[in-house]
Amino acid sequence: MSNKKLFIKTWGCQMNVYDSNKMVDILAPLGYEVSDIPDDADMIILNTCHIREKATDKVFSELGRLNEYKKRNTKIGKNTLIAVAGCVAQAEGDFIMERASYVDMVFGPQTYHELPEMVAKATGAYGKNRVVNTDFDVEAKFDNLTMDNSSQAGVSAFLSVQEGCDKFCTFCVVPYTRGAEFSRPVEQIIQEAKQLLASGVKEITLLGQNVNAFHGEGSDGKDWGLGRLIREIAELDGIKRIRYTTSHPRDMQDELIEAHRDVNILMPFLHLPVQSGSDRILKLMNRKHTADDYKRIIDKVREVRPDIALSSDFIVGFPGESEQDHKDTIKLIEDIGYAFCYSFKYSPRPGTTGAKMSGMLPEKVKSERLQELQEVLNKQQFEYNKKFVGKTVPVLFEKEGQKEGQILGKTPYLQSLHVNAPSRLIGEIIDVKVTDAYANSLSGKVITSEIISSNAA
Ligand code: 5AD
Ligand code: SF4
Repeated sequence: MSNKKLFIKTWGCQMNVYDSNKMVDILAPLGYEVSDIPDDADMIILNTCHIREKATDKVFSELGRLNEYKKRNTKIGKNTLIAVAGCVAQAEGDFIMERASYVDMVFGPQTYHELPEMVAKATGAYGKNRVVNTDFDVEAKFDNLTMDNSSQAGVSAFLSVQEGCDKFCTFCVVPYTRGAEFSRPVEQIIQEAKQLLASGVKEITLLGQNVNAFHGEGSDGKDWGLGRLIREIAELDGIKRIRYTTSHPRDMQDELIEAHRDVNILMPFLHLPVQSGSDRILKLMNRKHTADDYKRIIDKVREVRPDIALSSDFIVGFPGESEQDHKDTIKLIEDIGYAFCYSFKYSPRPGTTGAKMSGMLPEKVKSERLQELQEVLNKQQFEYNKKFVGKTVPVLFEKEGQKEGQILGKTPYLQSLHVNAPSRLIGEIIDVKVTDAYANSLSGKVITSEIISSNAA
């Protein structure tokens, strides 16, 4: 089969990264190989994100640029397929087709398993047709997704266990673009985990928009929660670390908290978005928990795993947010003490309830509040990292660093850490003494005798 070049650009969350890898695996048997440059690609896929502002504008400006390549290629008799995938495709499929006549395929996140057929249609096997596919059958997607994980054969890999969301937070497009909440059956997940481990993966991050709402059918026919699933995966040969993301406070079941106590390869890291520290705003956001509920959950988790690193997402400038609401958020950040957080200015998303609310705040106020919040978060993160200097931590090395002789890995607490050490340590968990802390990372020295002995050999 002739080799064709495939260029994929991925925006947004880890779920999109996972989906892009799946698309690579599905297209490989059709002769497509990944390329880093779009100029002479046979197929270009934009895997898009709709969660925050100007998503559609960004896609159109990228499409305009790509069409120049397409036109150039057409002149020399070469065909370039342009496809838009992901959540912008789901939300704005028809609009994209109407406005950009050179786009050949638009397809939503639940249709990737149908790619071979869509490509056949778009390339003319059934008479050349433009393709729009925004079906919502997530079960069919997972049933039909290839188990070939060759595109993910690194040290650390993602494994999607759950998709979609029924919570309808009033700011969020996910329930509209990814559809209703769905959990994969345990057996399917275990098979995929085994494949990943067989290809050399050491760390698996279980993925889901609401990963702790997971309730997949287990081997006993009953619904299993995420805690139970983690225990099962922890038993597999070759697994060294397990992580999961993203969780919702309402689904933080005891069973999952207990897994943090009992499963030593479950990493002490919890990304638990709270979004705001004000009960009034949490209510308007339809979060169905208060700041106090959130704090109680954190207390429970810390009781079983005192060293757990915490992380969250925050939205500033939600409609009607007062100066006092903003202060409440900062107070919550100070009370909790985070290792690392993401923060965003509220952006009204079409179709969400929030977009129709009164009390929209001016950009200037949102920017000022974001800056203030980020100063607190950055300080907290740096302080958190500084506490590690002088300590010894087990680091899973993942890849070579930018500088010669450097390798990069992650601490259990998800901090990036670099050392000078031979690249054969990639894939290993090695004790490192932390020597320096930076705003976003650590550096240190390998302290095992392993290096010395094998250098001598
Ligand atoms: N505006 C700003 N931030 C948003 N997020 C989701 N929707 C919006 C929006 N409309 C943020 C939330 C969520 C993260 C993935 O993106 O904090 O947890
Ligand atoms: Fe969006 Fe809320 Fe669902 Fe998270 S829980 S995906 S923020 S609607």
